[in-house]
Amino acid sequence: MSSSSVLIRPSRIQNFKNHDCIPSTYFIQTWGCQMNVEDSEQIGLYLNQIGFKPSKDVYSAQLIILNTCSVRKKPEDKAFSMLGELSIIKGRDQDRIIGVCGCMAQIRAEEIRKRAPLVDFVVGTAQISEISQIVENLLEKRTFYTSLNLPERKGSIVSDIPQRQVDRNAKLKTFVPIQYGCDKFCTYCIVPATRGRERSRPTVDIIDEIKKLADHGTKEVTLLGQTVNSYGKNLAEGRVPFSELLLKVAEISGIERIRYTSPYPRDFKTDLIEVIRDCPKVMEHVHMPLQAGNNTVLKRMRRLYTVESFKEIVDELRSTVPGVSITTDIIVGFPEETEEQFQDTLSMMDEIRFDGAFMFKYSPREGTPGAEMVQVDQKIKERRLDDLIHLQNQITLEKNREMIGKNIEILVEGPSPKILNSYQGYSREFKLVHFLAGRELTNQIINVQCEKAHPWGLEASLT
Ligand code: 5AD
Ligand code: SF4
Repeated sequence: MSSSSVLIRPSRIQNFKNHDCIPSTYFIQTWGCQMNVEDSEQIGLYLNQIGFKPSKDVYSAQLIILNTCSVRKKPEDKAFSMLGELSIIKGRDQDRIIGVCGCMAQIRAEEIRKRAPLVDFVVGTAQISEISQIVENLLEKRTFYTSLNLPERKGSIVSDIPQRQVDRNAKLKTFVPIQYGCDKFCTYCIVPATRGRERSRPTVDIIDEIKKLADHGTKEVTLLGQTVNSYGKNLAEGRVPFSELLLKVAEISGIERIRYTSPYPRDFKTDLIEVIRDCPKVMEHVHMPLQAGNNTVLKRMRRLYTVESFKEIVDELRSTVPGVSITTDIIVGFPEETEEQFQDTLSMMDEIRFDGAFMFKYSPREGTPGAEMVQVDQKIKERRLDDLIHLQNQITLEKNREMIGKNIEILVEGPSPKILNSYQGYSREFKLVHFLAGRELTNQIINVQCEKAHPWGLEASLT
């Protein structure tokens, strides 16, 4: 999962001075994963209901919300830096409303309050649907508000799943959360603390939402969950296997493509692999986080699979679904990782040959077991990350080259921002593709011929 940011540099504080804030406008700064991006969209929809409109930039917004991420230190630093700048603005212009939500708000509310005392509200990951009410209350009376309750999963059935808004504006591709929280407790990961225990959304709610999305023009959905393929536990209606959910989504007319992220390797079973093979709407792309290529490290990370069992899943996937693309996440420099153990990760990457990978330096997260272990030196982590990225970039390019000459299907998202008269879209295998076209093809599913490979994806021509 990737992160994005538009930080206000100190020099830009000046820009705030030149802009009076426009009443009833909002700006949401989002860091972190797709779940956060999705939460920000929901916040926007709730704010629309109380008459707020998105502002064209952060400077003119009356309401500025920071939707934060805690998965590594970097996005936390960025949020604190932006909060510092916004505190100065708020000190000068009391009409602004500044709110913080998301993962960092969930676990660092006190620190946020201390470092940015002028902030108007701090709410956790389960309060997204309350934000419009909080803002309305603040418009009447400016008193600091906070709420950080995380739903507990009492007993086996979950009943406190948030209701969601459906965006009426046509959106070609939409993220749909199907599961909240995580029960795996990997020793490096803060997510179980920030998002709570695993809770699956009732199947009927998911299907109902996707039907509405299809009616509004969505052609591709990406089902979201921290361990998306363990979906279906603790439901009042009884257990619904993830593979069955995929088939139900595939029945919805108008939905042409189904993706999901991220599956947990141990739960990637034959039924799911067969659905990828047999159901044309389920894309031939699997993003399956490996994290490390050594069993001792995996065990200390509390990942519930081994190098061998991971390879077996990859083998079954590749033999059952020819042409499937597989991507992954890797963490280097997990505490006590030796040079040999890191070399095992490199060898495994070389052996498996993933189509792509998100690669990270381990970042100690306070409150997780990993933070208490013996840390690897920062310089060593950096070098290991460089080595890994170097290897994977080569492999990604080679994998993309293997596509040259092939006829592939893409969903066209619009004109390419980089190449004149070009369009871009993603292939079924989740490769970014640019191609020349003399006519408008946005929103269409078309076939193209791959001609040139790049580290970022492919150039193709119309067939
Ligand atoms: N340090 C570095 N990377 C992490 N991830 C999760 N926690 C950490 C951490 N403490 C990575 C994992 C996960 C991805 C979303 O972020 O690789 O799959
Ligand atoms: Fe974090 Fe592990 Fe859960 Fe993924 S499976 S969210 S890495 S605890």
